[in-house]
Amino acid sequence: MKRQGSVHQIALLALLGGSLMLTACAQGTSDDEEVDRNASVAAAQARVEASIDGLDVLRSSLARQVDDPDAVDQSTFARVCQPVGRRAQTLAQENGWRVQQLAARNRNPAHTLDDEARTVHERFADNPDLKRVWHEDTVLNGTSGQRFFQRITVEETCLACHGPKADRPDFVKTGYPNDRAYGFEVGDLRGLYAVFVPDSLLLATQD
Ligand code: HEC
Repeated sequence: MKRQGSVHQIALLALLGGSLMLTACAQGTSDDEEVDRNASVAAAQARVEASIDGLDVLRSSLARQVDDPDAVDQSTFARVCQPVGRRAQTLAQENGWRVQQLAARNRNPAHTLDDEARTVHERFADNPDLKRVWHEDTVLNGTSGQRFFQRITVEETCLACHGPKADRPDFVKTGYPNDRAYGFEVGDLRGLYAVFVPDSLLLATQD
């Protein structure tokens, strides 16, 4: 009996040791996974930030090409905020993101702030130095992921179309009856870019 008992004890010890080793290995793996996850998320975030910077630079440079503010018409618009909207949608399609431009005082009602974006818009309004915000644990339309927000600031060149109400180009006055995107001054918060990245894509490896 005694002998059997010690055999049992040894078996038990071996089992215990084995499971301890397994636990240790699993722990090692999950640490590695955590490092991989962090690297993958950081890379995805950097891609989002670089893409939105590109979008913002695109708008600024297009707006600078509006040489004669008195001659701003539909075709000028086609060279400024329209290409920005198109580029935003291309970015969304290429990457599987949701890319939006939202504003409290919007011109196109499709750009109305949702609840989450409204809180960020308020933060941007209260903190002029705050340029970007990541919400790392959020849900959009039932999908969990991360959401990035970046402020859009009014520049001199924007005023041709977003300045005094009476000075807006005719195509804006007639085409946007519910327009609220006028009366801005240089440096004002115009709105924000919002990019939603689903969790599944944050962990996807990119070539
Ligand atoms: C040639 C006229 C024109 C100029 C210049 C212009 N915009 Fe716009 N902008 C528009 C129009 C028209 C829309 C509505 C687009 C739509 O229907 O989606 C718009 C929409 C926007 C939106 C989307 C939110 C909303 O209100 O619907 C933002 C943000 C914006 N403009 C920012 C800017 C900034 C910043 C500048 C200067 C760097 C600028 N715009 C210069 C005409 C212009």
